[in-house]
Amino acid sequence: MQVQVRILRFDPEKDGQPYWQEFRVDADPSDRVLDLLHTIRDEHDGTLAFRRSCGHGICGSDGMVINGKNRLACKTLVKDLKQPITLEPLRGFRVIKDLVVDMEPFFAKYRRVMPYLINDEPPPEKERLQSPEERERYDDTTKCILCACCTTGCPVFWVNSEFLGPAAFVAAHRFVFDSRDRAAIERLQILAEYGGVFNCHMAFNCVDACPRGINVTKAILELRQAILGGAVSSSPERG
Ligand code: SF4
Ligand code: SF4
Ligand code: FES
Repeated sequence: MQVQVRILRFDPEKDGQPYWQEFRVDADPSDRVLDLLHTIRDEHDGTLAFRRSCGHGICGSDGMVINGKNRLACKTLVKDLKQPITLEPLRGFRVIKDLVVDMEPFFAKYRRVMPYLINDEPPPEKERLQSPEERERYDDTTKCILCACCTTGCPVFWVNSEFLGPAAFVAAHRFVFDSRDRAAIERLQILAEYGGVFNCHMAFNCVDACPRGINVTKAILELRQAILGGAVSSSPERG
């Protein structure tokens, strides 16, 4: 079949502003959007820029706006999309070129919640043990691939530059509820401040956008409950 693809192109080194470019591509209905991008770059325009790595929904590098929704190019099939298929870079980040955006502001907020195990106690002779039930407590939030589809689809992210965003909350949840970690209070303190979990309006865009099916709002609610349970004081209002 022939597929009509419209891509929002922009090369800051030579373009004054972004513009739409249309391609007609031979494809199978079972092809992924990532396959279309490869065909376009290999057969139509070698200057097209996009990110990919794993090609199988694991690395999180090909998040983009596909027909108006945040999705992974490698997990979205041609047969599930109306034509013309429109492809835009994730919104809210500086465009480096075409579909490639500068993710550093996203990762800076991710780092704010200390997304790594913290435990200064002397390690046991073997590993730090955990029961299956304790592991299950944060299983859902271990699935995040940092694609930024949730954060860049969040209405609060659009209006509040200090909002940490759902991906950072998911990362925090993964460690706050890990029985081996000892820095939950510090993380919850950060999440209780302005820009943290109390600034979320529960619009559920993040749940819809997540290609890993993570229940992001459940994680946010559990973090709020942990704060309200008295672990730390909260100050979600500015000033
Ligand atoms: S539920 Fe909260 S974090 Fe998720 S999209 Fe809505 S406002 Fe953003
Ligand atoms: S929570 Fe889901 S949408 Fe958000 S960064 Fe992680 S995998 Fe992507
Ligand atoms: S290429 Fe890795 S998630 Fe799509």
